[in-house]
Amino acid sequence: MAENNSRRKFLKTGCLTALAVGVTVCGGGALIANIKPKIDLPQVTSPDSGSGKRVLIAYATKAGSTAETAARMAETLTKKGLSVDVLPIDRVNDISPYETVIAGSAIRMGNVLPEFKTFIEANKAALEKKTFGLFIMCLTLKETDEASRKKADTFLDPIRAIIKPNSEGQFAGVMNPDNLTLMDRTIAVTMMKSPVGDFRDWNQIDGWVDALA
Ligand SMILES: Cc1cc2nc3c(=O)[nH]c(=O)nc-3n(C[C@H](O)[C@H](O)[C@H](O)COP(=O)(O)O)c2cc1C
Repeated sequence: MAENNSRRKFLKTGCLTALAVGVTVCGGGALIANIKPKIDLPQVTSPDSGSGKRVLIAYATKAGSTAETAARMAETLTKKGLSVDVLPIDRVNDISPYETVIAGSAIRMGNVLPEFKTFIEANKAALEKKTFGLFIMCLTLKETDEASRKKADTFLDPIRAIIKPNSEGQFAGVMNPDNLTLMDRTIAVTMMKSPVGDFRDWNQIDGWVDALA
């Protein structure tokens, strides 16, 4: 009897220890898989150029390429004599000072980032009274065949259901494993076998923003 009790106690302690170790290891693994690499998030507030035209470029990024693209667009427009502010989209408080608003998002799993959609929904009425351009960065457009273009075009359907922009830019983006969490790297590079590289066509991007503003 005493032997039975001690065996039960031994098994119970063993099971609880295994459970505790499992939870700790899994929890630690999840934490490591989601450690975010340091991404540059440019914030530019430019002085008034005297043109009276102020442009906001707001971006939603995960791995930084949409932010870099927003900064490059700002350079292009500043050279044209415009005053351009650049902000992460979730840090935009007031769009009233701007005549033109450009909003860009990375595509993840076939969707724009949630903060991008939130911004469009929250500012729909004001955006409708401005020159409004939106752009996306995705890897589908690394290929230029019709099927890829059609597929990429669907990424914006949920946004088009909210607002009709004056112009849309759909651009090939970047896959840089160094800028991804271990989890995202595993999904995109290991499982989805995504090509690695910078596939941006700067002529296309410069041309689009130049024509818009
Ligand atoms: C986890 C993950 C999922 C992605 N899903 C898609 C996708 O569904 N379609 C697509 O065309 N590109 C996809 N991409 C590619 C990104 O849209 C592309 O790398 C983009 O340039 C990322 O922008 P960012 O650097 O601003 O985050 C994915 C990338 C990652 C890392």
